Amino acid sequence: MKSAIRLENIEKSLGNRKILKGISFSVETGDIFGYLGPNGAGKTTTIRIILGLYKIDSGDLEVLGQDIESSDTRKKIGFVLDLDGLYDGMTARENLMFYSRIYGMVLAEERIGQLLDMVELTGRGDDKVHTYSTGMRQRLALARSMVHDPEILVLDEPTSGVDPSGQIQIRKILLNLAKKENKTIILSSHNLDEVQRICNRIAIIDGGEIKLYGELESLRQGMGKSGIIIKASENITDYMIGEIKKLPDLGLKEVKDNSLVFMPNKEKATSDIISLLSSRGIKVEEAIKQEASLEELYSKILKGAEGS
Ligand SMILES: Nc1ncnc2c1ncn2[C@@H]1O[C@H](COP(=O)(O)OP(=O)(O)O)[C@@H](O)[C@H]1O
Ligand SMILES: [Mg+2]
Repeated sequence: MKSAIRLENIEKSLGNRKILKGISFSVETGDIFGYLGPNGAGKTTTIRIILGLYKIDSGDLEVLGQDIESSDTRKKIGFVLDLDGLYDGMTARENLMFYSRIYGMVLAEERIGQLLDMVELTGRGDDKVHTYSTGMRQRLALARSMVHDPEILVLDEPTSGVDPSGQIQIRKILLNLAKKENKTIILSSHNLDEVQRICNRIAIIDGGEIKLYGELESLRQGMGKSGIIIKASENITDYMIGEIKKLPDLGLKEVKDNSLVFMPNKEKATSDIISLLSSRGIKVEEAIKQEASLEELYSKILKGAEGS
């Protein structure tokens, strides 16, 4: 199946600075994709490229298998950029109406009601936007991005400046949009915690380069705290697994061919695991201790970014 969004080796300079240094990643249909990185990493630049607001210097971009320049593709994308772009003097309802005209649509009252319900602004549609909190504005901007019922939502830091309870509310709405409305979502964020709560796939960008990319669950497993990967001299059999299960719980997480991944609950020395396995007749050829968790990696990136 075609990816919803595919970037390959995208390069972009602004002024005389190279902002994106060959970015590649894909967003699959149904993803809530987290695009993570510290301030200045290049997130907004990437998002503007995906939306066709910036031309790329080189590389390849496909949205729904097509060129972003095609008007058909544009109709299938909704977005919220870093500025919410709402009209303060208008009501929520008027903002939605106004925006829908850009798409050559006239929104039915019923549809406006649905959109307001979806973002938990039921009953606030006739209030002027200048009376709204930041969280409410972000939610309205989200409703506005959906007036034309797009397949993909592209959101630049959708919870930025929103208080913690407002962030929870937005996250819940995004999960609903993905699950119930079948939207594919890409959101940028500088908050790993937030991304871990709702995203299934992530890319971390720093200094215009992708540092990490993949399915969150497998990245986590691969980088779990004190995960220990053991390579045995032969393929692991069911018998061996039975033997391992007789040992005190080592937190066996994965078995593939000749490798075993352990994520012990308590700190366990790699050498303990090796000798326990040997005691059960499993010959260890190699043991790799993975120190870095996603958190550790990301905080390193954040520290580096502060210092630059
Ligand atoms: N129009 C521009 N001209 C020159 N440099 C820019 C421009 N827009 C952004 N930048 C620079 O590009 C880098 C990445 O910016 P941006 O994509 O906005 O990062 P992020 O959204 O991750 O915070 C920053 O260093 C920023 O200063
Ligand atoms: Mg930004």
